[in-house]
Amino acid sequence: MTGHGFRADQIDTSKPHSARMYDYFLGGKTHYSVDARAAEQVEAVWPDVIPWTRANRSFMHRATRWLATEAGIRQFLDIGTGIPTEPNLHQVAQQAAPASRVVYADNDPIVLAHAQALMLSSREGRTAYLHADVTAPETILAADELDATLDLDQPVALSLNALMHFIGDDRKPYEIVERLLAPLAPGSYLVLSHGAIDPRPGLSDAVTELYRASGIHVQGRTLEEVTAFFDGLELVQPGVVMPHRWRPGSERERTEAESTDLWIYAGVGRKG
Ligand SMILES: C[S@@+](CC[C@H](N)C(=O)[O-])C[C@H]1O[C@@H](n2cnc3c(N)ncnc32)[C@H](O)[C@@H]1O
Repeated sequence: MTGHGFRADQIDTSKPHSARMYDYFLGGKTHYSVDARAAEQVEAVWPDVIPWTRANRSFMHRATRWLATEAGIRQFLDIGTGIPTEPNLHQVAQQAAPASRVVYADNDPIVLAHAQALMLSSREGRTAYLHADVTAPETILAADELDATLDLDQPVALSLNALMHFIGDDRKPYEIVERLLAPLAPGSYLVLSHGAIDPRPGLSDAVTELYRASGIHVQGRTLEEVTAFFDGLELVQPGVVMPHRWRPGSERERTEAESTDLWIYAGVGRKG
């Protein structure tokens, strides 16, 4: 379904939702009390969730900037976009390269309801939004909005940030990523961040249970399992690491990278 089929009553405010909980953790305003309560329960068990969320968002900014400035990428496909939070991916890319084109996709009606903020493209570039599910990759790749925005004969950066841990093994997450990358031109990139379980397994079980009790399925993965999403790609240095250790920019980020462990991995890989 695309944006044209949206109905406001599709927003279910009776149970928590991952995108709105993520907005709460980022300090946004687009969530309901049910989300804030579930988020507070997670925070009580896992106090690092806010640094986790911010490090993930800031990895997205640095990776996008790197792709636009160092790798010459001008086309981006961002799936699991989340509720808009400035700067959004297109703002980072278009600040570096104003002609950048971005297609966003998410399956949450509330993201769709706020998608207007994702459409405010630079004059030279273009953005589009799809209401779509990553578990149906061909629907995303065949969408008219994608066809009108991206040229798949040219390299594309596929961003799957803090998304694939919502896709359990039963839904074949590795195959989904392969199917998304298959039609992309050589020189395309995969940018992926993913909740981790190996740094603190006991804590991971407790948080996974809390999310499941709220009706949200999460499956954290080990470093080896997250790295496996990049199979067949050439990893950009420093490889798959905690996101605040991926090319930290400012002095503050460099200090944090040395001192704090976060329960998430991130990387960028190039398709040859
Ligand atoms: C934690 S947020 C990440 C937002 C953003 N990518 C970032 O890293 O800052 C995860 C997003 O993935 C979306 N999502 C979860 N399952 C999805 C699915 N099967 N298909 C598409 N989007 C999905 C949620 O609605 C939410 O907006």
